[in-house]
Amino acid sequence: MTQMNTRVLLARRPAEHLVAADFEVDTQPVKSLHDGQFLIKNLYLSLDAGFRQWMNEDSGDNYLSSMPLGEPVQSIVMGTVVESRNEEYPNGSVVMGRTSWEEYSIADGSDLMSILEPDPNVELHEYLCSLGPSGMTAYFGIMDIGAPKAGDLFVINAAAGGIGCIAGQIAKAEGCSTVGIAGGTKKCQWLQDTLGYDQVIDYKSTEPFEQQLQKAAPQGINIVYDNVGGTMLTTMLGQLAENSRIILCGAVSQYEREGGHQAVGNMWELITKRARAEGFMFSDHVDRYPEAIEYITTMLTSGSLVSPVSWSDGIESTGQGFIDMLAGKNLGKCLIKL
Ligand SMILES: NC(=O)c1ccc[n+]([C@@H]2O[C@H](COP(=O)([O-])OP(=O)(O)OC[C@H]3O[C@@H](n4cnc5c(N)ncnc54)[C@H](OP(=O)(O)O)[C@@H]3O)[C@@H](O)[C@H]2O)c1
Repeated sequence: MTQMNTRVLLARRPAEHLVAADFEVDTQPVKSLHDGQFLIKNLYLSLDAGFRQWMNEDSGDNYLSSMPLGEPVQSIVMGTVVESRNEEYPNGSVVMGRTSWEEYSIADGSDLMSILEPDPNVELHEYLCSLGPSGMTAYFGIMDIGAPKAGDLFVINAAAGGIGCIAGQIAKAEGCSTVGIAGGTKKCQWLQDTLGYDQVIDYKSTEPFEQQLQKAAPQGINIVYDNVGGTMLTTMLGQLAENSRIILCGAVSQYEREGGHQAVGNMWELITKRARAEGFMFSDHVDRYPEAIEYITTMLTSGSLVSPVSWSDGIESTGQGFIDMLAGKNLGKCLIKL
């Protein structure tokens, strides 16, 4: 019997904020495999805010191409190999890689694909969360660029998201005092109660963000972990301590902005404060994943890391799940269970 594959396609270029009609669900027969290929039955799809950037027209860059219309939306996925013409990926292997929003993916071992050797003490989906791209991004940003020292004031935005949740707890474990920025009173309360942030800032409250930041960091910020970019980053650069480090991880406030990314201000502060700002991509560090996985697994299995997930069920829920994540409705990492 022909196996059918339900997929979520990018139906049109989004006009600023994503809406459900930007996506289309279709069902197609699974194609036959060529030599070197294998078929993955996807178990989980990872929703990662960064992919929003590459849904835009002409958004291709040195990292990824602009997503083609009429094709499934790109995504990090985890699944089981159910048919194989590639001896390195035999049937039954549990794999993770970058394919698409679809129930079945055909892969050839490229595009961040790897076989997982899950720790039996860790839930499998964790390899898309704290032990997957989100955790790797949190860890390498903090360790390599943030270079945390005990007593540093660490400030992170999108603090309740997939990366933010893990990064805040790693910074705390490294002895930093942590300030989490997120949108909404309830979310901020959750950041303190569940994730242990020392201070929180609700950037959606009526009190101006700049004023809240000055109160939270009267002596200046030692480490900025920036997931948001734009005017929020500009304000944070205006509140730096000397010799501070700025981890440039993402720019989620900019991905839906008509006219492209806006310029960031307060750059003079980098000079007078002898600060260092550096961008990075988690995938630059594949050879050092074992180091990060060991560090984070120790935190997880000792009960010192909370790794929250906002779950959605079924392939049809994927588009709305992604829209909700960008709107800040998630607490922690967003995953689709297939
Ligand atoms: N460099 C790398 O290797 C790498 C790898 C993966 C991801 N990233 C980047 O990391 C960032 C976080 O990604 P994620 O997948 O973990 O997503 P996420 O944080 O789980 O979700 C995005 C969150 O951003 C916040 N947000 C959305 N629009 C905002 C705005 N205009 N101003 C302030 N906050 C806004 C929302 O929460 P609240 O508004 O409630 O706070 C939302 O929930 C993204 O910028 C992504 O591109 C970088």
